[in-house]
This record gives sequence, C-alpha cells and structure tokens, in this order.
Amino acid sequence: CGLMLSVSLTSPLSLLLDLLPPGVCNLLNPAAIYANNEISLGDVEIYGFDYDYTLAQYSNLLHSMIFNTARDILIEQFKYPEGLGKYDYIPGFAIRGLHYDVQKSLLMKIDAFHYVQLGTAYRGLKPVPDEEVIELYGGTQHIPLYQMSDFYGKGPSLKQFMDIFSLPEMTLLSSVIDYFITHGIEFDQVHLYKDISDAIRDVHVKGVMYKWIEKDMEQYILHGDEIYAVLNRLVNHKKKLFLITNSPFSFVDKGMKHMVGKNWRDLFDMVIVQADKPNFFTDRRKPFRKLDDKGSLQWDKINQLEKGKIYKEGNLFDFLRLTGWRGSKVLYFGDHLYSDLADLMLRHGWRTGAIVPELETEIRIINTEQYMHSLTWQQALTGLLERMQMYQDAESKQVLLEWMKERQEIRSLTKNLFNPQFGSIFRTFHNPTYFSRRLVRFSDIYMASISCLLNYDVNFTFYPRRTPLQHEAPLWMDQLCTGCMKTPFLEEMVHIR
Ligand SMILES: *[C@@H]1O[C@H](CO)[C@@H](O)[C@H](O)[C@H]1NC(C)=O
Ligand SMILES: [Mg+2]
Repeated sequence: CGLMLSVSLTSPLSLLLDLLPPGVCNLLNPAAIYANNEISLGDVEIYGFDYDYTLAQYSNLLHSMIFNTARDILIEQFKYPEGLGKYDYIPGFAIRGLHYDVQKSLLMKIDAFHYVQLGTAYRGLKPVPDEEVIELYGGTQHIPLYQMSDFYGKGPSLKQFMDIFSLPEMTLLSSVIDYFITHGIEFDQVHLYKDISDAIRDVHVKGVMYKWIEKDMEQYILHGDEIYAVLNRLVNHKKKLFLITNSPFSFVDKGMKHMVGKNWRDLFDMVIVQADKPNFFTDRRKPFRKLDDKGSLQWDKINQLEKGKIYKEGNLFDFLRLTGWRGSKVLYFGDHLYSDLADLMLRHGWRTGAIVPELETEIRIINTEQYMHSLTWQQALTGLLERMQMYQDAESKQVLLEWMKERQEIRSLTKNLFNPQFGSIFRTFHNPTYFSRRLVRFSDIYMASISCLLNYDVNFTFYPRRTPLQHEAPLWMDQLCTGCMKTPFLEEMVHIR
C-alpha cells in the first residue's frame, strides 16, 4: 500500500505519547552516580582524590578571567594586534572533548569511530560547511586520529581539549582566528596554536589564577560544605584518604581550609602536591620529597610515607611500594580522563571515578519534555525509514525524502538543545563521542560532583545498566531506573550535587 502512513504523521503529539513505552522512567537525577562497571563500595578501603575540579569545583567566572588574562598576555607580551582586545569570553561557545586540527585551524567534535559530526566543525567563530570539511579530509568525514594524534590527544597535528580549563583556551583560539580571518591577515597556524597554549599556560603556571581564587574563595569555589561532609563521612567509616594534585601546597591548603576547615589534614593519610600527573603514574624517576608544616622543602630521603605529612613530586611506583595500597581496594577520583584516570585503570588496576560537571546540565536537558519528544520522534522516523526503504515507486520515494529531511532537522534540533555549536559532550547524533568512549573505558563510575557520594550508602554496590548489544533483544526490564527520580532516596537527595 505504499506509504499512506505519512498523512497521520503530520500531527505527531498524540502519536508521540503512544510511542513512549509504558512506565518508562524519564526523569533522571543529576545527582546520581552512573556506573560503567560493577563496583561495590564495601570493598573499597582507600579513597584517593585529585584536587582541582575534583574536590574543588570552580564557578564559571574563572573561565572569563582566564580568557581575559591570556588575551592580554597575547597582546602585551606576544605583540598580537590590539584589536583582539575587543573579544570577550563567550560562555557556552565550546564544549570539552573537542579536537583541534592545527594545520587546518579546525575545531571539531569527533565520534567514537573517529568521524567528525557534520555541522560541528568551526574555523574561528564560524561553522565550516560540511562539503568543505569532507574535502579537507580527502573526501571523507573520517579523521585519521592514529596518524595525527597520540593516545592522549597530544599528537603533533591534532589535539584533544580534555580539561575544564581548556574551555577558555578553545574560545581564545577561535576568537584570534576570527580576528585574523575577518581582517584578511595571513597567519602561521602552528605558531598561533603554540602562542595561545603558552599564554593560557602562563595564567596557571605563573600563579595568577591561584591568586584570584585565594582572594575570593566564596565566589570561585562551589559546594564546599558538601565536600566536608563527604570526606568526614568516609573517615567515620574507617576509610583511608589521600590526595594527589599537581597544584602547589599553599594553594591547596587555603582551598581545603575554606571547604573543610583548618584541620583538614587530619582527614587525610597522605597528601602529595606538585605531583606532575600523568608522569607521576608512568615514570619512576622523581622520588618523593617532604615539605614541612609551612610548606618548605626538606632534603631528607623518603623511606616511608607518614600520616599527616606533606609530600611533593614522587611517583606511583614508590607510592605503591611504601603504602601497599594496590588493586581494587583503592578508588581514585579525578576529572581528567587521561592525566588522572587512564594509567590507573589500564596499568595499575585501581578503581576509578570520573568527575564530569557537565552531567548536571546535560541531564537537566534530557529531562525536558522537548528533548523527550524530539528524541522519540527522531527514533520513530528512523524506524520508519528502515522498514519502508524498499518502497521505490515515485510517490513513496518522495515521502521517504521528506522523512529523511525531517529526521535531519530533528537531529539538529536535539543537538542544539545542548549547545548550538557542538551539541552534547557525550553523543554525536546517534553515536557516542570520542570523549564518551574514553569515559567508559577509563572510569568505573562517573558523576557530576564528588558530593553525589552523599546520596549512597558507604557499602552501596553500583550495577551498570545492561544495555542491549545490537544483536541482542532487550529482554530484561530490571534496571530501567538507574539514576531515576522514582528511586526513593534519590528523590529526597536531589539538592545534593
Ligand atoms: C558495611 O559493610 C561492612 C562489612 O560487611 C560492615 O562491617 C559495616 O557495618 C557496613 N557499614 C554500613 C554503614 O552498613
Ligand atoms: Mg583536576
């Protein structure tokens, strides 16, 4: 009978509601912890933490400060054009996990199969048409990551922006390129990339950023009380705690005093600062050094790691030898998938927890009616296309074309709900992003903030949802509600991030 169905498809709302499976749990809790791998907290005896963006979460205000300062360094020290001063930070321009092709000046989102998501390639502040992107890569959207980038996204020609500090960096890069393009100024792509990363690095390394934060903790550090509650509860349940951070002691000390109180060090068995992660995890060369209570360096050789002392540098091999804290009784939390988590997961067998602050806003978007409707309709259209594609008479072909067009429109609309330029950090249209695949590979659990731990018993076991593989029938109904508001304790705890 061809595709007479199309008539009823023009007013989709009632149909949409029919399409939603009965009893589907559609309200996810942004404060839930999500599991990639089964893990029982009862087995974890030792909790380790990164500091920046793991224990200390910073407000977005920091991004514009970093942007402005790096922009001014470019103008004043690198002698870039004064006209750059007109560019301000654009909140929400970039998202984490994007790749940057240095030679082509392209900032783009890449999926788990190394394809660029069409519509998400930007040069400067403007999108690059899909046809041009495809032509730039020799007639394909596939990016040869293995040739152009290394495992940690630091290869010579393609970089991946993985930390939260890189949001201002990507925005500055795009702004400067925009300036050069709109003024018709020729520039060397390699120098430009290097100058901008150097300017951004100076903001961290020269300590400017530390000073802003130290001066106004109230304004920059989020959820301090909850961090105190998490750490205190773990210690009360006889867990051992340690901290491994790349930041200097005086900065961490001030932040922890602000969040936890002046006796914060009593909660920790070990504090390691300026650790130089990820080299800390892979390289045996640097021995531990001890700091005294005022943060001054001591010269003595370290044969044991004592509770309450502060150590600097060091390496994981010595750490494991001196503490004996091996394997799956250790759970380490960090926000950087490569610098914090990858080596621990792949080489050392610690359990890992990823802090992904973006989860909070992304889940709030997933919970909107608009998202739910767009996605359901998009999937319904996809199913129709799959089943009806064999009808090849002229009239049916026309209908199929219209469906394809509509599906494309809905896919863009759904993407734009997250971010108008780059969409969600977790998905391209239907695939997981490159970032997502790394997240699943390198973390046992992930959550918006450490304080989500407060929502769970100290002996809680996280069971990952069994998502059907492509050849499997979705036969089981048992775990539809991971992270769902209908779970009683999660509903009560929604205020805790
Ligand atoms: C967690 O499990 C351990 C070992 O089974 C038990 O001793 C402890 O009381 C439990 N803690 C809580 C809070 O249930
Ligand atoms: Mg960090």
